Amino acid sequence: MRNLKKIGVVGAGTMGNGIAHVFAQHDHEVVLVDVSREVLDRALNTIRKNMDRQVRKGILTEEDRDQALARITPTTDLEALRDADFVVEAVVEQREIKRDLFRKLDELTRPGVILASNTSSISITELGAATDRPERVVGMHFMNPVPVMKLVEVVRGQLTSDDTVETVVSLAKALEKVPAVVNDYPGFVANRILMPMINEACYALMEGVADRDAIDTVMKLGANHPMGPLALADLIGLDVVLFILEVLHRDLGDPKFRPCPLLRRMVAAGLLGRKTGRGFYTYES
Ligand SMILES: NC(=O)c1ccc[n+]([C@@H]2O[C@H](COP(=O)([O-])OP(=O)(O)OC[C@H]3O[C@@H](n4cnc5c(N)ncnc54)[C@H](O)[C@@H]3O)[C@@H](O)[C@H]2O)c1
Repeated sequence: MRNLKKIGVVGAGTMGNGIAHVFAQHDHEVVLVDVSREVLDRALNTIRKNMDRQVRKGILTEEDRDQALARITPTTDLEALRDADFVVEAVVEQREIKRDLFRKLDELTRPGVILASNTSSISITELGAATDRPERVVGMHFMNPVPVMKLVEVVRGQLTSDDTVETVVSLAKALEKVPAVVNDYPGFVANRILMPMINEACYALMEGVADRDAIDTVMKLGANHPMGPLALADLIGLDVVLFILEVLHRDLGDPKFRPCPLLRRMVAAGLLGRKTGRGFYTYES
């Protein structure tokens, strides 16, 4: 993907820093934009730490790491994306913020530049409609943690062109990821199937079908999942799980996506999983 030299990554949080990491690791110049200086500093620290781990594992040499880090330019100025060849955004999951960002990126970047979103639940078609180039708007849905997880869902919006989809598929492969092309429906494929499973595990717990450990053990050893659904919910964040279930329930209108009342109650109590130290499990510090 030599023609896509300079990559803009907007949003430097959990996903944005991982996305910047993999692009820089694969020889791209990266302009990493966030509204917060502090977040940018933290993102660069995280990228360095994660690349150090790759050095220890023999995936990168120290020289590769230093060169990759030098390819990342952090900034709070969106204007720096004027000459970007490709932009992917990973800002907060709020429809209005993302639509506004796509409007700005459409004005700012060269015509024909692909604008991709890492959104988990917002319609790619709707983001495309905020621009004058809906055929160049696409979903590029990385999984967390980005440097480790192989899958990228490539989401085709209603007006996304074949050429755009093919470019993003090739780009994902060049990043040593495995792309899966999906259409623009709520939750795409990953969350549409994963979230109801987690929700059902919450119902099973609430109804006393089994206790926490039995539920997770059954799915780990019975379905060969690397972790049980309740442990996974803690990892994702119970608030994020609830948010995505609400989107699926509302946008597909099917009662099968009704969020479990136990999940709602835990979110209301601030038991959000690993990030608050307590969810279905309890975590040290
Ligand atoms: N966390 C996950 O497991 C996961 C997995 C797949 C996809 N996603 C998606 O990735 C996106 C980001 O999620 P996250 O978990 O990294 O969130 P996060 O809260 O960690 O990071 C979001 C960042 O966006 C920044 N931001 C907000 N508005 C901005 C703007 N206008 N311009 C530039 N930066 C702005 C914030 O300062 C913050 O640093 C969301 O769309 C989410 O649905 C998340």
